[in-house]
This record gives sequence, structure tokens and C-alpha cells, in this order.
Amino acid sequence: MSNVLTIHGGKPLVGSVSVRGAKNLVPKAMVAALLGSKPSVIRNVPEIKDVDVVTGLLRLHGVVVEHDCDSGEIYMDPTGVKTANNAEIDAFAGDSRIPILFCGPLMHAVGAAFIPDLGGCKIGDRPIDFHLEVLRQFGAEISKEPTGTYIRAPRRLTGAKLELPYPSVGATEQVLLTAVKADGITELKGAAVEPEIHDLIHVLQKMGAVITVQTDRTIRIEGVPELGGYNHVALNDRNESASWASAALVTNGDIFVEGATQRDLTAFLNVYRKIGGDFDVRDSGIRFWRGGDTLNPLVLETDVHPGFMTDWQQPLVVALTQAQGVSIVHETVYENRFGFTDALIRMGASIQLHRECLGSVPCRFGQRNFLHSAVISGPAKLTGTNFNIPDLRGGFSHVLAALAAEGTSVATGMAVINRGYEKFFDKLEGLGADIEISEN
Ligand code: EPZ
Repeated sequence: MSNVLTIHGGKPLVGSVSVRGAKNLVPKAMVAALLGSKPSVIRNVPEIKDVDVVTGLLRLHGVVVEHDCDSGEIYMDPTGVKTANNAEIDAFAGDSRIPILFCGPLMHAVGAAFIPDLGGCKIGDRPIDFHLEVLRQFGAEISKEPTGTYIRAPRRLTGAKLELPYPSVGATEQVLLTAVKADGITELKGAAVEPEIHDLIHVLQKMGAVITVQTDRTIRIEGVPELGGYNHVALNDRNESASWASAALVTNGDIFVEGATQRDLTAFLNVYRKIGGDFDVRDSGIRFWRGGDTLNPLVLETDVHPGFMTDWQQPLVVALTQAQGVSIVHETVYENRFGFTDALIRMGASIQLHRECLGSVPCRFGQRNFLHSAVISGPAKLTGTNFNIPDLRGGFSHVLAALAAEGTSVATGMAVINRGYEKFFDKLEGLGADIEISEN
């Protein structure tokens, strides 16, 4: 993918974009196919790098994977699953966090797994202690090696009574993908209940799993000896939908997001309306535009589902730099998710970061020296500048700011955007953005 994007700001984005399957579900559903004794099919798959990484890792482990990019359908046959060469796994994993979720399925299938040092967006330390702790409780033996973590099941894994210190999405997925074929019952307290978690549960249920989600964030899984295959249409990507909605707000445009689903965007839509955006929910998607001449400042706190999702705040912060007054954003999910504001400040935004918890949501980062609250004063005139994009959502925000700024910006490191935004450049051009794409 091209790596340099030149952006001439000041033009509203107008038109429509189509959003397909969720980046934070599809790769996990593909890993789940490893658990089956029959082939599986996942549909509505976007063309993003995280899907390519899992495709390569599955093939390394002997799984037949056929991906029809146009139809968005992937066929997987896990019946030939085998162990893979650690160096090959390491080379393939790159900057993805998904390999950690291969542990349970590979231990069930071949008795062991090797997990390279994980990548993913640099938005905090992103430890895997919750993952390793639950795997030990299932009976796995874990040894840290220079190139990664080696995990093995000396005997059939057994169900466990588990409780997460924080409703971690990844650790909840780790438990689901391990417990479904463990011997006996697993009870997980303090689980994540994001829409992507529910969709993964639907995938596993289609395979033959017995999973109950209780009202108090407790998930119960009754292990079964064998699972079949599945045929599943992935839920749409709520984070990409929210990103394009913010693009309409920031550029004073008008964007129809085909595939945007109100059910998964409730908290976002409330904030969108409060800041001064407007939206029209239709059967096939949602139209987003700026409701009036000015944007309203607000106090925003991110949280786990059903709260305001942490991946939604970066694009929205750009809109808050244009609001009439002072806004506060308290990021409670990741300790270091405001790094992207450096470039916005260089463009003219007025943003101060603070170590204090500026909000009421219980937070693990108070007084621990993490700059996890932001005070944003607007409206600020943004002027184009050059920047290297830091991560997926921060990168989208940089591009938004450049689209709203006066003058020209040159963005490098754009390949990162391809991890989670399908056909990003095509969509920008389709919305009338004044851009040039080149290699560096
Ligand atoms: C998933 O990351 C998503 N990524 C993230 O989206 C999303 O922001 C996040 O969930 C929260 O919703 C994928 O699904 C690939 P967590 P994950 O485990 O699973 C701490 C994007 O841009 N934690 O819920 O890694 C962790 O440090 C990405 O699409 C531990 O301390 O998130 C964080 O503070 C960004 N120990 C908090 O929990 C652990 O073992 C939430 O992390 C695991 C997590």
C-alpha cells in the first residue's frame, strides 16, 4: 500500500462509503475455525492487513484458506492442522496482536502454541498478563523464551472459575476460544461484552459450543469434546463507521455510511448529537452531517461496552478542537492514547494533557503518571503540516485534521491505516478529498 498521502485541506467530504465486517471480530472468528472438525466460512470480510496476517498464520498451521476478496468470503478447512515453525510464525505476526488468540485452539488441536512478541497500536503497554493467567488456570504450561512465549497442554485442558481484573476484550476472547473444548464448565466473571464478543459467541455457538452470557458480566461455557464448522456473516465495523461520521463533522461534510449499524453505535450517536452533529438512520446505513454552524464542547469519558468506545475518541477529538469552548476527554481504557495530539497541536490545536482523572468513570490510571485526560479549547484554526501517523485511529485523526486544515499536509507511514480501514484512499477520493498518493 502507498505510504505517503498529500492532503490539501478545506474541502468538505461529501458522498457515501461502504463499511464491511469488523476488524475486531473477523480475525478472531478465523482463529475460531481452528477449533472445528469441519470447514468454516466467514463472510462480509474486509480487505485489511489484520485479515491477511491471520490468513498467513492459519496456512502456516496447515489450514486451507481460500479468500475471495470481491465477495468478502473466506473458506477455511482446519482438518490438516499442524504445528508450525516458530521463526515463520514470528515473521508473519508482524505488528498484530492476534497471534495470542491462537493459544487455546492450538493447544486443543496439536497440544502446543508459540506466541511471538506481539505488536499492535502503541497506545499503552498492552500487557498479556490476563491472557497468561487464564491459560494457566485451564492447565497450560507457559515458558517465556527470547523470541516469544511457548505454551503447551500437558493433558486435556479443564474448565476453570475465572475472574478478570478488568473487562479485557482480548482476555475474554482467550477464555472463549479455550473453554469451548476444555473438559467441564468454565465461569468467567468480569468479562467484556462488546458487540464483537457477542458475535464471536454466535460463531462458536454455530460450531456447537454452549455459552451463556449473564446479566452481571459473567459468561459460562460448557466444554464439549468436538466442534463442527460455521457459516457466519461478520457484524459491520462500528469503529470505521464512527470514524467516517467524525469525518463529516470535522470537514462540515455529509457522508452516508452504508453498513453503519445503530445498534452498535448508540453511545456514539448520543455524543454525535450533543457535539452538534446530525444523523439519519436508514435500513442500509446512517447518513451523517454537521447539524449547525458551530460545534458544542463537551465532557467525554471512554469506557468498556456499552460505554463510549475508546477507539471512537481520537477522530472526535479533532472535532472538539473546532468546538466553541472547552472540552474534556477522560480516556479510561488505555493509559497512553493521546500521543496523536502532538501533531494536532503542531497544526494549531489547543490541547493540554493531564495526569489526573478528569471524570467520574473509575480509572486505573489516576496518579500513575499517565497523561490520560485531555483539555481541548476551541475553535482553533488548523494549518497543514507534515506528520508520520502513529497508529490506526490516531492516524485517521491526523488525516481528518489535515482535511479540515488550511493549506497542505504530507502524511507518511500511511500503510498502518490499511490494518483496519479497507480501501482507505479510494474512499477518501470518492468523498471528494483533494489528495495525492505516492510512495516514499
Ligand atoms: C481490543 O484490544 C481491540 N483490538 C482494540 O481496538 C480496542 O480498543 C480494545 O479491545 C478495547 O475495546 C482488537 O480487538 C484487535 P483489551 P485488546 O484487552 O483486546 C489492559 C483498534 O484500534 N490489559 O480490552 O488488546 C490493556 O492494557 C484497537 O481497533 C491488561 O492489562 O484490548 C488495556 O488497558 C485498539 N492485561 C485494557 O486492558 C491484559 O492481559 C483493555 O485492553 C490484557 C489487557
